[in-house]
Amino acid sequence: MQPSEGYPESGKVVSLSVYLDDATEPLATYHPPATAELDTTALEDGPHVLRVRAQDALGHAGVRVIPFVVQNGPGITVTGLRANERVSGRLELAVNAFSANEPFDPVRAESSGPIPVWTWVMSALIAAWAGWYGLTEFQQPTAFLQGDAPNAVAAANAPMGEKAPMAYSGHGVAAGFDYAATGPQLYATNCSACHGVNGAGVPGGFPALAGDPVVTAKDPKLHIGIVLRGLHGKTIVGKPYASQMPAFPQLSDNDIAAIIDHERTSWGNNSPIISPDDVKRAR
Ligand code: HEC
Repeated sequence: MQPSEGYPESGKVVSLSVYLDDATEPLATYHPPATAELDTTALEDGPHVLRVRAQDALGHAGVRVIPFVVQNGPGITVTGLRANERVSGRLELAVNAFSANEPFDPVRAESSGPIPVWTWVMSALIAAWAGWYGLTEFQQPTAFLQGDAPNAVAAANAPMGEKAPMAYSGHGVAAGFDYAATGPQLYATNCSACHGVNGAGVPGGFPALAGDPVVTAKDPKLHIGIVLRGLHGKTIVGKPYASQMPAFPQLSDNDIAAIIDHERTSWGNNSPIISPDDVKRAR
């Protein structure tokens, strides 16, 4: 044990030595406190280590180690090959260099690279979502847009006989109308986004057409009326639907008949089919 009055004096730091990298000889030795200058232009570009060693009068030493990187030479960018990347065949590399005293130019510093695949994938997903959203939220029957929603529903649901008495052919193919030639494609283009490619609909969003009472009804007048005039606010098989069924008056009689017949004869449905004439009379 040291005499207590001598202790504070003897613990005083008496020398500070600065070492560079793994040198055993100090770069400089100071008495604290001191200011020191490090001339990095004398060093090679790359990683270095500065060690500062302090020693007190009792011989205790403290060491502080500071790793640093010198860059006085030109900066280098390489695009097309990343560290430890697994590669094969021929590679196209973009190499560039800019000096430390050139003004920083992001265009040169970031040598041009291809747009990453994920950017395209994200854009496609966002576009698909926007399309789906627009279709489900904003496409409405014409009558509904005109503020006539209740009438649109009533018109679609009204027994058509009240407007024009008609008889349905129920034998489109026999009458020379080949719905199978165009029906599946027209259904895929106009209806499948909501009702599904297999007519299964989307639970809570869009009704299934497989087994649907309107599609499997012997009498097709409601089926034709809904496609021509749209539908909104109907509870189908005990379920209400928040979105609306758009009207398709722009489709030709042939196209509507082909779609309706495709629905009436697919996914387990087996109800009488119609001809384009039936659509014409229902308009
Ligand atoms: C934008 C989405 C959407 C598209 C596209 C769409 N529908 Fe609909 N459809 C609906 C919704 C929603 C309902 C239910 C409306 C309701 O409950 O009032 C519906 C209902 C129906 C119904 C009535 C079912 C019943 O039991 O009353 C039929 C039939 C139908 N759609 C056929 C079609 C056909 C055929 C096409 C293509 C020409 C088509 N839909 C395209 C959304 C759509």
